[in-house]
Amino acid sequence: MKKMSNLVERRFRNLVVPVAISGALLTSSLVAQPAPTLEDSPIRLSSNENAFGYTPNAKSAIIKALDSGGYYNRNDVSDLIEACAKKEGVPEDYILTTAGSGPLLMMTALAYAEPGVNVVTTEMGYTQLVRKFEERGGDVKFAPLGEDMGYDFKALKAEIDEKTKIVYICNPNNPTGVLADSAELKQFVMSIPEDILVFVDEAYLELTNSSFAMATCAPLAKLKKNVIVTRTFSKGHGMAGFRIGYAVAHPDILEKISVFGMGTPSYLAAIAAVEAIKDTEHLAKNVKNYQTVRKHVTDSFDKMGIKYAKPDGAFVYFHSGIDQQVLRDTMSENGILISGSRVSGAPESKYSDWARVSIGTKDQMDEFLNLLGGLVAMK
Ligand SMILES: Cc1ncc(COP(=O)(O)O)c(C=O)c1O
Repeated sequence: MKKMSNLVERRFRNLVVPVAISGALLTSSLVAQPAPTLEDSPIRLSSNENAFGYTPNAKSAIIKALDSGGYYNRNDVSDLIEACAKKEGVPEDYILTTAGSGPLLMMTALAYAEPGVNVVTTEMGYTQLVRKFEERGGDVKFAPLGEDMGYDFKALKAEIDEKTKIVYICNPNNPTGVLADSAELKQFVMSIPEDILVFVDEAYLELTNSSFAMATCAPLAKLKKNVIVTRTFSKGHGMAGFRIGYAVAHPDILEKISVFGMGTPSYLAAIAAVEAIKDTEHLAKNVKNYQTVRKHVTDSFDKMGIKYAKPDGAFVYFHSGIDQQVLRDTMSENGILISGSRVSGAPESKYSDWARVSIGTKDQMDEFLNLLGGLVAMK
């Protein structure tokens, strides 16, 4: 065990790890896969990276394609656009691919922000779009979270005014992990006037316990010109390092935001993503792994008396009762990286003793749970 920092040492001077957690046995449906690792890395439960791996078909396709790296290979990105359009049931001009979905969030902020206008979102949510919007001189209006840290669409609507350009919704939300009620969400999206863009970030939606087909807002992009839905291959598909994602929206919106895009994705990433779309079995395995390990974590939290928001994504947001910075430092000193609250609009103290842990392999989660158990017991 590495040496603890002074701050942490003061707080947890008598820390002895690990403390045994009587975790629930995993069901036999959990698929054993070698977890990809980074050399000499701590256990990375901070960035919602996929510990179960991407489709092996992508690896062989990339190896085969390596020799043509000297060419621009735009055709491979066109093949990906075709595959995405087919998957989403939209024409190809409704798809825009980028290097991860993060650029789509930032391009949208750049296209819509200016002094005097605002973006509406929740007090706790993913901040990539709203922070870029602020940087460009726009304002951010935060609505409170609803019950159980879910969406309160009435509160969200109440924040919309004549200066609102975008409503940003992340579903399931990051960092809370809570999935919106699909009927309420769709009703909300359909009710927003056409001069306001509704941005639905579905980075984690494949991993939900509910039905993806019921929950996705992508079909609404065909019905309404002011709806954009983004997806990434970084999470469920396990390809964060490849950098590939896409948006589904009316071509007018895509044209408006593309002005701020710089270049097409790498052809190798596009090749990998096409294989990921084709290998539905692999995605289903990854989803099953996430669901199984996520349940193991929440069952363990239940046993430990730790409160958490109902998780539907690649992570669990939990109430440790320990200042999140102290908890993160302690975990980090013990070789485990987790994430803090990412409070955006809420008062600093509101979620200061909550933290977010990404779902890794069962073994990784057991190491985390053992350490957390020890820390919570010493509080
Ligand atoms: C909610 C959400 N949206 C978008 C992204 C961007 O991910 P990427 O650029 O890898 O697609 C992330 C990354 O963690 C995220 O959590």
